[in-house]
Amino acid sequence: MMSLGRLSVSSVLRYGGRLLSTSSTPQAKVAVLGAAGGIGQPMALLLKQSPLVSQLVLYDVVNTAGVAADISHIETPAQVSSFEGPDQLNEALTGCDVVLIPAGVPRKPGMTRDDLFNTNATIVLKLSQAAAKACPNAMLGIISNPVNSTVPIASEVYKKAGVYDPCRIFGVSTLDVVRANTFIAEAKGLDVSATNVPVIGGHSGVTILPLLSQVTPSVSFTDDEVSSLTTRIQEAGTEVVKAKAGAGSATLSMAYAGARFAFSLLRGMKGESVVECAYVASNVTEAAYFATPLQLGPRGLEKNLGMGTLSNFEQQKLAEAMPELLGNIEKGVKFANEN
Ligand SMILES: NC(=O)c1ccc[n+]([C@@H]2O[C@H](COP(=O)([O-])OP(=O)(O)OC[C@H]3O[C@@H](n4cnc5c(N)ncnc54)[C@H](O)[C@@H]3O)[C@@H](O)[C@H]2O)c1
Repeated sequence: MMSLGRLSVSSVLRYGGRLLSTSSTPQAKVAVLGAAGGIGQPMALLLKQSPLVSQLVLYDVVNTAGVAADISHIETPAQVSSFEGPDQLNEALTGCDVVLIPAGVPRKPGMTRDDLFNTNATIVLKLSQAAAKACPNAMLGIISNPVNSTVPIASEVYKKAGVYDPCRIFGVSTLDVVRANTFIAEAKGLDVSATNVPVIGGHSGVTILPLLSQVTPSVSFTDDEVSSLTTRIQEAGTEVVKAKAGAGSATLSMAYAGARFAFSLLRGMKGESVVECAYVASNVTEAAYFATPLQLGPRGLEKNLGMGTLSNFEQQKLAEAMPELLGNIEKGVKFANEN
């Protein structure tokens, strides 16, 4: 049976408040690159609590030992290991099944995600070069912004290394879905745990396109609601950046979203059919990378479920977003080919 990838407490086996693994649980080694950061730490905390994770590898360029020592005291089976600095990166990645990358600088007020390109492009380039060498078959979940460009960068690196499999490289856009579910459920008085809003396109501003015409459960909106809710979902990251006033961007909700995506990947890898939206190599539109709902499975992306039938409003928004998305992709490809 196909299921949505939502991270729910009830989906985890519980007994006496402790999380248990079962004999059918696969032994998955999951790495977090950027583990000492604002996203990395709480995401590692969530991963440590999952029976789907048997080994949790924490890697950063600073402060990894402290984070790893702290998390390793949690009474769950996942074994925690700590690696710091480029000299230890290859060892960190060897044997990994899933690699999550939240390494890099976050936005400050007034910045777009593209403003992070100069710093984060190099970080993602180096980390994906290392992953392509040490664990070429691992699933890669890229969180570092600008995701619209960092996913093309990692993909070009894998192509150059001769190990490219487009079904294993994902831009994590789960937070857009999480936000859309929350905002739509609030606005319409729905049960948020049963609400699902597909979000397609990319992961920045106008390229984030929530499909309010395809919400589950089926719900109707006025034109004004469609317009204002779409804008709120597109600008939700900026809402957090402004509220944090210089102290960074979304970290806790992103940690939740990153963990949700990782658990969906892991459930897919052990044979469950799970659906998540993510930003991947795609032929759904003219953009070479595009987020749509994906069926996940043992090989990662099993089937791209496409974007369905768009409303006139959504078609217009998609057309408006396309030049920016194409530009972001081109910038990433160019950078990877020049470096
Ligand atoms: N995909 C999304 O929806 C989403 C949402 C929020 C933030 N982000 C992005 O995630 C990234 C991280 O955000 P954050 O708030 O955790 O930032 P942060 O500054 O708190 O943490 C980043 C961490 O990356 C580490 N790092 C830097 N260079 C590294 C390298 N070469 N190798 C390993 N680690 C390295 C830093 O030491 C730091 O611990 C940013 O690029 C941000 O824009 C993405």
